[in-house]
Amino acid sequence: MAFNIAVDGPAGAGKSTIAKAVAKKMNLIYVDTGAMYRAMALFMIREGIAISDTDKVIEKCKKADITIRYEDGIQVVLLNGENVNAFLRTEEVGNAASAVSVIPEVRAKLVELQKALAANTDCIMDGRDIGTCVLPHAQVKIYLTADSLVRAKRRYEELVAKGVDCDLDAVHKDIQERDYRDMNRATSPLRQAEDAVLLDTSNLSVEQVIDKMIALCAH
Ligand code: DC
Repeated sequence: MAFNIAVDGPAGAGKSTIAKAVAKKMNLIYVDTGAMYRAMALFMIREGIAISDTDKVIEKCKKADITIRYEDGIQVVLLNGENVNAFLRTEEVGNAASAVSVIPEVRAKLVELQKALAANTDCIMDGRDIGTCVLPHAQVKIYLTADSLVRAKRRYEELVAKGVDCDLDAVHKDIQERDYRDMNRATSPLRQAEDAVLLDTSNLSVEQVIDKMIALCAH
């Protein structure tokens, strides 16, 4: 059986930064499931489909072939054969991903891919429903969170560093809306699995969180 670490938590908690670093230190593959929902959202945006039109999204999602491949240890998302990594990290695509991920048919398609990947790969997978739904038997489960204002500040600083013109209040509002949607949807809402360890990163440095995670994995 493959060794799986499940990491869940709200937007901006530091999941991908931490999971990537732990993957490197423990020689595991890092699987970013948010990128798959983002690729599905990108597909809908490109096709001119309003995410609020659920029937159309369900019909169109059958035409989106999303796969992943690893190049020098980096996850590459292929959307109908095209490497779309460069288009996934915008706020527009992130918000559309949160909206599209509410639809059970979209989730079913991507969860199947995620389960298949983890079945024969030692990996650390991050998302919103990994410990509760995708990998209920993961050997280690972590719920990573932080105060919403701390998360907004981190996201704001990331955007500013990239040269994006933005406003902290707007970023905070976006994070709160995303939390609400992710935690209150009917299918696989974001919540801490009963057997997951809670790690609040509000007052911890990246290095401290990495060390705590590695200690948890060693038990
Ligand atoms: O982690 P992220 O910001 O890249 O995720 C984008 C959106 O995708 C997030 O707001 C909710 C959705 N998502 C999900 O529903 N389930 C996952 N396992 C991963 C992401």
